[in-house]
Amino acid sequence: MRCVKPFVYVTRKVPDEIIARLSASYRVETWTEEDRAVPRELLLEKAASAQALLTVISDAVDEELLAQAGQLKVIANMAVGFDNIDLESASRHGVAICNTPDVLTDTTADLTFALLLATARRMTEASEFVKEGKWTSWAPMMLVGTDVHHKKIGIVGMGKIGTAVAKRAAGFDMEILYHNRNRHEVAEEMLGAQYCSLDELLAEADFVVCLAPLNDDTRGMFQRKHFQKMKKEAMFINASRGPIINEQALIEALEAGDIAAAGLDVFDQEPISADHPFLSMKNVVALPHIGSASKETRLSMMHTCCDNIEAVFDERPPKTLVNKDVLQF
Ligand code: GLV
Repeated sequence: MRCVKPFVYVTRKVPDEIIARLSASYRVETWTEEDRAVPRELLLEKAASAQALLTVISDAVDEELLAQAGQLKVIANMAVGFDNIDLESASRHGVAICNTPDVLTDTTADLTFALLLATARRMTEASEFVKEGKWTSWAPMMLVGTDVHHKKIGIVGMGKIGTAVAKRAAGFDMEILYHNRNRHEVAEEMLGAQYCSLDELLAEADFVVCLAPLNDDTRGMFQRKHFQKMKKEAMFINASRGPIINEQALIEALEAGDIAAAGLDVFDQEPISADHPFLSMKNVVALPHIGSASKETRLSMMHTCCDNIEAVFDERPPKTLVNKDVLQF
């Protein structure tokens, strides 16, 4: 009897080694354009016959998709966050949802801290200045930024990435404040991190760094009044998800001088439109959601997805299963 290989659909162009690994056991199809996401209609069509999907955070996995995906056993989402997935619906349809925590922690913390440094020291503005041929003399106050060392960082969301950012901050002799659902005793003991209310953190921190996951509690948690509680010289860094802040409120806060600058790796709508107000603000450093984007980490994330897909087909519990109630083995 001919054994039909399970069909795995990969929603983005990925390196050959990932396709080769999956192709050893499965029939694999993949979206191959790098500068365009898989169209929704095609994703729905492929999901309808796939047994596994390898998705990314910009793929909306909702009831519409899951209801049509009768064969689907597992979705390996290449991200630590899974706010693109309707978890309740996935569990109801018996689909295992897996993410890629841990392998990206240090890489994302590096990028977050680099974004903080770039914002404080005006690095993208300075680089543009040089490239545009504007560097015609050296002046004592030319492109001066603000110090990072010995300042106060306020981390909102002290999970694994938040803690890794706190470690980096400790290396810069920063005072560390944090706000989180739960106390983090290890960070308090090892790094001297101080737990405080959100209001205290906003009032005290020189750099407010948002690393909370996006969920019903955090959506829209930063409004204009929150930026108004920050010091005028303070800077806001967001490396988690755009919808955690009210973007219009942040634009107004920056325009009104409620805060000094923002470093943003994430936005409400991604990709951001070319005429977005942030893009014409000198005091905004904008990155295209590249927190985990190092070669090593992106490959580890993709291999974690492969591990999880293989585990489900081999009837073993996947290591990073999110909806733990869904599997019988
Ligand atoms: C990226 O944003 C992730 O959740 O891994």
